[in-house]
Amino acid sequence: RPVKPGIIHAYSERIPIPDDAAVVTLGEGNTPLVSAPRLSELTGCEVYVKVEGVNPTGSFKDRGMTVAITHALASGIKAVLCASTGNTSASAAAYAARAGLTCAVLVPQGKIAMGKLAQATLHGARLLQIDGNFDDCLELARKTALDHPVTLVNSVNPVRLIGQKTAAWEICDVLGVAPDVHCLPVGNAGNITAYWAGYVDYAADKLIEAAPRMFGFQASGAAPLVHGEPVSDPDTVATAIRVGSPASWDPAVEAKNSSGGLFDAVSDEQILSAYRLLAASEGIFVEPASAASVAGLLQTAADGRIPAGSTVVCTVTGHGLKDPATALEGNVEVEPLPVDPQAVVNALDLTDE
Ligand code: F0G
Repeated sequence: RPVKPGIIHAYSERIPIPDDAAVVTLGEGNTPLVSAPRLSELTGCEVYVKVEGVNPTGSFKDRGMTVAITHALASGIKAVLCASTGNTSASAAAYAARAGLTCAVLVPQGKIAMGKLAQATLHGARLLQIDGNFDDCLELARKTALDHPVTLVNSVNPVRLIGQKTAAWEICDVLGVAPDVHCLPVGNAGNITAYWAGYVDYAADKLIEAAPRMFGFQASGAAPLVHGEPVSDPDTVATAIRVGSPASWDPAVEAKNSSGGLFDAVSDEQILSAYRLLAASEGIFVEPASAASVAGLLQTAADGRIPAGSTVVCTVTGHGLKDPATALEGNVEVEPLPVDPQAVVNALDLTDE
């Protein structure tokens, strides 16, 4: 039995796939749940970080994509389509390549991290850059898939979210209990919906006593769920969650309400500060959108909405290497030196005098 069989094999009894379907997997899932001592100290909570950036294409999307592409392949369809702020396209492109399917992605003009474009390109996807935002791309993709022989692999495809439930199951399997609070960045709102459904499954099967409170965080320039209405021109440094009209609006609200959770907004400054803190103090390099969960944790712990002593899991959704440009902005300190041992000693202040 392989050490990392992928989520369909790991949770075969909970993930229905068509009879005789060939499983399309790249070994996704089974990601680290890392304890976060610095965040725990800052918040008075017991904080864990679920590091989804170590999935095969560097984001949580792979959990849903293995299921969506397995179904698409089994259906006999030849092509898949998605709209994306970047990570869905990277994941769809990789799994489609693996399955021998054609993949086309609709991405918004600009505002896509370079690493994600590089992935989709090298995996052989057709990249269509739409003169509009993510919400326009998703509407176009949905319309196209309705009347043409292509499968839509966005999270509006219900099997995607079944795959994404596995992250909640893994957390419970590792901790032996559910956390008290689960913090997530929210864009199109599929992931918070999937986590909640995953926890509800485990609670129904008595594998956990109770599901956690779901805390969803949006960037303040793209916070439709916080404001209770769509945002027509969403904007944030966290390009992955630059979404103005989330597709999974209703189930996300249901997750928040049923769990006694909340939606809140965090500013780009808070996001970038949490992004740097995670990298510099916890050794975890994430993309900016992922840090919204941690920015939200810091905000809600500081104002008392998360009681001290709570067990909290923050999902960090994508790898920092997706977006090197943001990492390097204003932070590059390279010191040119000659090939001289003394120069190194001097530069590092290692002399005794
Ligand atoms: N974090 C990252 C890194 C993402 O890429 C996304 C969504 C989210 C969080 C939010 O998850 O949409 O389920 O609420 N990215 C989508 C994409 C929109 O196209 O890659 P969500």
